[in-house]
Amino acid sequence: MAGGALAELAKRRGFFFGANGAYGGTAGFYTFGPQGAALKRNVEEAWRDRFTRKEGNREIEAPTVMPEAVFEASGHLDGFDDMLVECGECGESSRADHLVEDATDFEDAESLSGGAVEDLIHEHDVACPSCGVALAGRDVENFNLMFATDIGPGDAHPGYLRPETAQGIFVEFPRLKEYARGSLPFGITQIGPAYRNEISPRGGLLRLREFTQAELEQFIDPETDEPPLDRVADVDVRLYPADEQAAADGEYRDTTVGEAVADGTIGSAWVGYYLGVAREWYERVGVDMDRFRFRQHLAGERAHYAADCWDAESEVGGDWIEIAGFAYRGDYDLSKHGEHGDDAFTVFKRYDEPKTVERATVDPDMSVLGPEFGGDAAAVADALETLAGRDPGAFEGETVTVEIGEGDDAETHEVDADVANFAVEETTENGEHITPHVVEPSFGVGRTVQTLLAHAYETDEVDGEERTYLALEPEVAPRDAAVFPLVTNDDRLVELATRVADDLRAAGLSVAYDDSGSIGRRYRRQDEVGTPFCVTVDRDGIEGDGPETVTVRERDSAAQVRVPVGELAAELATLRAGGEFVSLSERYDSVETDVETTTN
Ligand code: GLY
Repeated sequence: MAGGALAELAKRRGFFFGANGAYGGTAGFYTFGPQGAALKRNVEEAWRDRFTRKEGNREIEAPTVMPEAVFEASGHLDGFDDMLVECGECGESSRADHLVEDATDFEDAESLSGGAVEDLIHEHDVACPSCGVALAGRDVENFNLMFATDIGPGDAHPGYLRPETAQGIFVEFPRLKEYARGSLPFGITQIGPAYRNEISPRGGLLRLREFTQAELEQFIDPETDEPPLDRVADVDVRLYPADEQAAADGEYRDTTVGEAVADGTIGSAWVGYYLGVAREWYERVGVDMDRFRFRQHLAGERAHYAADCWDAESEVGGDWIEIAGFAYRGDYDLSKHGEHGDDAFTVFKRYDEPKTVERATVDPDMSVLGPEFGGDAAAVADALETLAGRDPGAFEGETVTVEIGEGDDAETHEVDADVANFAVEETTENGEHITPHVVEPSFGVGRTVQTLLAHAYETDEVDGEERTYLALEPEVAPRDAAVFPLVTNDDRLVELATRVADDLRAAGLSVAYDDSGSIGRRYRRQDEVGTPFCVTVDRDGIEGDGPETVTVRERDSAAQVRVPVGELAAELATLRAGGEFVSLSERYDSVETDVETTTN
């Protein structure tokens, strides 16, 4: 399938299109039309069902604008950069690493230093994609991807649009842990927009400046908490580990989640668990498993917070694209917010039995430290306390050496051991404060939508005519069904078709009503937007003594059965929830059509 055909269909049929067209368009921003918005909402709902409800997790909704201090703590202010090169001729800005990847065999130029990318631009005569002038000699700079704003009037309170929904979960951890009654493990999810000021947005929904994430932050005690791995141990996965990517003849490893965790290919059982859950979920919503893999990040590719990371990737238009990331974030985020924030980003872990421990303490004599160290006295006292905890042996001599300040301001001081009043006390402790580790499945919703459309796009022949259809799963298709009166010049058919559509809507189904044009054209219109079932009201259904009936046509096979009106809503709801159309064929009369389908 050509990407252009799908993009054309997406725009013509109201899935998605570039935003703000009346004002020349804004690169990196897309509007989801009526079909696309419904498809996206259904994908989000299916994700919510699997990753929130079925896992027993809770969902929150945090603000999208956050103060600068959050991103100082998280590392995004310093480390969330892409490599930018600006053309000296036309001023066009480009992703330097992408230009190098397009011009060379490098697949992961992002992991190189800026200087190395400058050298490759020079060696390979890389040119500006806009005007064709050579970029050799141009600086490669780090460009921070966050959108900056001011909170309130003036510029005293800088803020940023969140670059990941995750931060809204991390900064609220001190409250969220209370709702979980301080007990690990627990998971918090969030679905919502995130913003990245991409240097060169591209590829439809693939690289946007505003996009929707569905993220789960799983908080665990790394020493004791285990995932329910047996639930997904037998799930087949196609893995592309880092060592295979590095090897000249690297291959996929087709294995199961259980084996990959047991043999260490997947280092964390929690990450393995979520790869298994995700594999099943992607299949459920309609990703083609022959065009799907999990690829491990190379060391230089990992985000600043990730100890290990696997991406779910799908093949779209001949390229592999990242559609989700599964990162082991360790205690990075909560530790950083604990250092910078004014709250406790730890949980109290109660021991099975109270423990008696020796604890080194100091009680510095400030009447001596004050005159001796002046304004540094309090810092010296703090340094003595820290040293006692870290190295009690340092207090064995007559004097103790402590360092205060940092870097060029660091100073060393000698203190009489007697003045420190060092002691070792025995105390009984019931537990300790630990910083939970975080495992993060993070899904790109727009990228999932793009994948589903690409994998569902089919052409075949029906009744001797070529047709295009989207074989979307009923659970995510924009509409559940369409209702047609066969003809519009028979009031009885129109009245029944209207009543059927109203009843289905009242039963909670999303239903299109179409009475325009030939029945064949109406089928084609619904096929193109992926409506899984078309309900046609014809004369055979209202004549005779039996109950009123309608025909139900299944999109992919174009097969039809005749179903009593009174049973229709329940049957369609069952089909939407994953029921098989063949079960209707077994229970109801088939309607003979001279339809022949040939899939291209
Ligand atoms: N939270 C992971 C990411 O935004 O990439």
